[in-house]
Amino acid sequence: MAGEDVVIDPWGSAQSTDYDRIIEQFGLSSMDNVRIDSPSRLHRRGIVFAHRELDTVLEAQRRGDGFGVLTGLMPSGQMHLGHSMVIDQVKWFQQQGGDVTIAVADLESQATRGVSLEKGRAIALEEYIANYAALGLDVERTNVYFQSSRPIVQRLGFQLGKRTNLNEFEAIYGFGGETNLAHVQAPMVQVGDILHPQTDDYGGLRPIVVPVGVDQDPHLRLTRGLASKTNWFNVADGKHSGVSITLSVHDENAAVLGQLPNGRMDKQRLKEIFDGIVKCMTELGYSDIQSNPKQGTVNVPSATKRDKTTIRMKLLAHERQLGGMGLLAPSSTYHHFAVGMTGDKMSSSQPKTTLFLGDDLPTVEKKIKRAFSGGQSTVEEHRRLGGNPDIDVAYQYMMYFFEEDDAYLAEINSEYRAGKLLAGEMKQLCIDRAVDWLGQLHEMRDQTAHLVKDFLAEDAR
Ligand code: TRP
Repeated sequence: MAGEDVVIDPWGSAQSTDYDRIIEQFGLSSMDNVRIDSPSRLHRRGIVFAHRELDTVLEAQRRGDGFGVLTGLMPSGQMHLGHSMVIDQVKWFQQQGGDVTIAVADLESQATRGVSLEKGRAIALEEYIANYAALGLDVERTNVYFQSSRPIVQRLGFQLGKRTNLNEFEAIYGFGGETNLAHVQAPMVQVGDILHPQTDDYGGLRPIVVPVGVDQDPHLRLTRGLASKTNWFNVADGKHSGVSITLSVHDENAAVLGQLPNGRMDKQRLKEIFDGIVKCMTELGYSDIQSNPKQGTVNVPSATKRDKTTIRMKLLAHERQLGGMGLLAPSSTYHHFAVGMTGDKMSSSQPKTTLFLGDDLPTVEKKIKRAFSGGQSTVEEHRRLGGNPDIDVAYQYMMYFFEEDDAYLAEINSEYRAGKLLAGEMKQLCIDRAVDWLGQLHEMRDQTAHLVKDFLAEDAR
């Protein structure tokens, strides 16, 4: 493929929107082939465009098994429409049965944006959680915590630091010798955020999905890699068929898995370990299990690709019993970014580029009136050539945020292209809906303000 590689910098302001390239370069999976039983607006419109191993979560959901949803917020500045997209996704997963954990990245905000922990707390509660409540997150199934006051998050980050190094950070984040160490530590804390909900004290082993903007994918790549590196058992496709299980011996588990100090294997111990694996597979109902301790593999020929997750989960639980961490690599989903109102990137530091959820209605109207338009420069030309809804902020915002009705959207889309609907008319449609939407949100915020404290986990109160 021609052209430069895309660089994703989670702290930078530049943001590539070359989504096909991003999928290819970073090995994301497209949502195109994913079956979603009750798709949300963002799914139906292709706005949620990519994922990593979402099937694991969807299968757990279909089986009625539990799954968790984790996302984080950076407490700095005001919450705007762009931020609400993650919450739309979280809400959808919650409606599908997921339990929700929300990390307030107060340590990250302090380290990378200079926001004090105290200030970070105030912003998180008054600005973000207040809006999450108004947007309809279910307080009964949502837990908000602060990075600074949940020790396991920091401990996991520290512990897993052992399995990465500066070279990997250079490869993932482009760090170099001049990089501030806060930027080295922040991702490790985020690793702790993402992995801790599956520890025994926070809900136990279950699939966890992390809905984020694609700018956060580097953290997911890091986390998934680190989780896999700690695993004691590898689960892979068998050579000819089925699933093949091998041991992954490292410092932490060498003794338990039977490696003697001289490097040789304790045959008796090894046999016990393999018997343990066989027992797990028997419990899952397989009968054709081939155990080869000498070759270091257990094969399950009748297992299918789809069984891999079940097998993996079973062995992670087993690993925990043997003293390992038993971490499942997280799943993730990614959404397209809505264009900024000026036609450039949406950014909280530039109020003209977005609608803040707290903007008053006259401001909303003014911003939309001035927004970048996909119309032609004169009415005559517009009638003749038609407008372009793909770059028209008013249309785009209805599609991303304000209009639920797909058929209606399709209708104004084609009328706009045909030149029947004028740019000013499109803006007025958007204003009507935006004012309605935000007006309702403000009302909800008053009604749900008393719930904010109930969103907080014990350790966040
Ligand atoms: N780094 C994220 C941001 O800049 C915030 C965050 C912290 C986060 N921990 C997380 C996001 C865990 C997703 C999952 O917005």
